[in-house]
Amino acid sequence: MKKCYLITGASSGIGYQISADLLAQGHVVVGVSRNVSDKVRQLENDYPDDFFFQEKDLSVDIDSLSKWVVKLSKEFGKFSGFIHSAGMQQILPLKVNTHKHMLEVFNLNLFAGLALAKGITDRRVKAESSVSVVFISSVASVMGAPGLINYSASKASINGAMRSMAIELAPLGVRVNSVLPGFVETEMMGKWSDVYTREYIDQNHSRCPLGIGGVDDISNMVLFLLSDKAKWITGAEFKVDGGFSLGDLR
Ligand SMILES: NC(=O)c1ccc[n+]([C@@H]2O[C@H](COP(=O)([O-])OP(=O)(O)OC[C@H]3O[C@@H](n4cnc5c(N)ncnc54)[C@H](OP(=O)(O)O)[C@@H]3O)[C@@H](O)[C@H]2O)c1
Repeated sequence: MKKCYLITGASSGIGYQISADLLAQGHVVVGVSRNVSDKVRQLENDYPDDFFFQEKDLSVDIDSLSKWVVKLSKEFGKFSGFIHSAGMQQILPLKVNTHKHMLEVFNLNLFAGLALAKGITDRRVKAESSVSVVFISSVASVMGAPGLINYSASKASINGAMRSMAIELAPLGVRVNSVLPGFVETEMMGKWSDVYTREYIDQNHSRCPLGIGGVDDISNMVLFLLSDKAKWITGAEFKVDGGFSLGDLR
């Protein structure tokens, strides 16, 4: 059955792959990001009747996002799922950290996701059948690294919020889960190319029992969580990291 999904971060990396995979399965995708990338143009071209792109900065006017979801639903249909993949990384030592930096990360990674999820649970928005919400968290929510304080905190917060949401929303037929990716080569790494050098990536490749992952590895898990095969799964965190977080002691 054709279903309608709301996906943030659809212009690149993991969010793009999830969008492309859902469209290939015949679903409708409303994708959100700040910029119309070449990948967005390609999806618009390939799926003119099923892919609808919304250019929006999700870190601004966060309280208005829930009402915006109601508007989207009137235009495109009731949503069977919401995936919050938009996220920003920040590498910043504590000594130069400020409230402004903290808010920047939390606004997008956590607060925007919660506001959009609130919109999804509105009875005018929610599909009659069950609804699945998936937050793209990170293994950084359960592991540490210098400079990742705000990022790790924002991703750990999303896991905490996810658990309470799962209990609160179960009576409405809404399942809520987090996926915790490990190292996946996406545009995000390109944005931090001075940190994620080829040497650094190769080093992490060797620290990861199954090597560095691809966006399809994350998308496969998300598609499973959206499907009825996951109908008894809520409030769970899924590490999809090729074994990176096992912390091989050798
Ligand atoms: N790649 C990894 O190794 C990895 C590992 C663990 C977790 N993750 C998580 O996975 C998610 C996706 O990451 P990715 O690697 O796919 O990164 P990416 O390629 O950089 O994608 C990030 C997406 O978020 C959108 N975005 C950023 N700021 C936004 C804003 N203010 N408003 C709306 N959209 C915004 C970007 O589009 P615009 O720039 O056009 O707005 C882009 O579509 C993130 O939450 C990230 O933390 C990634």
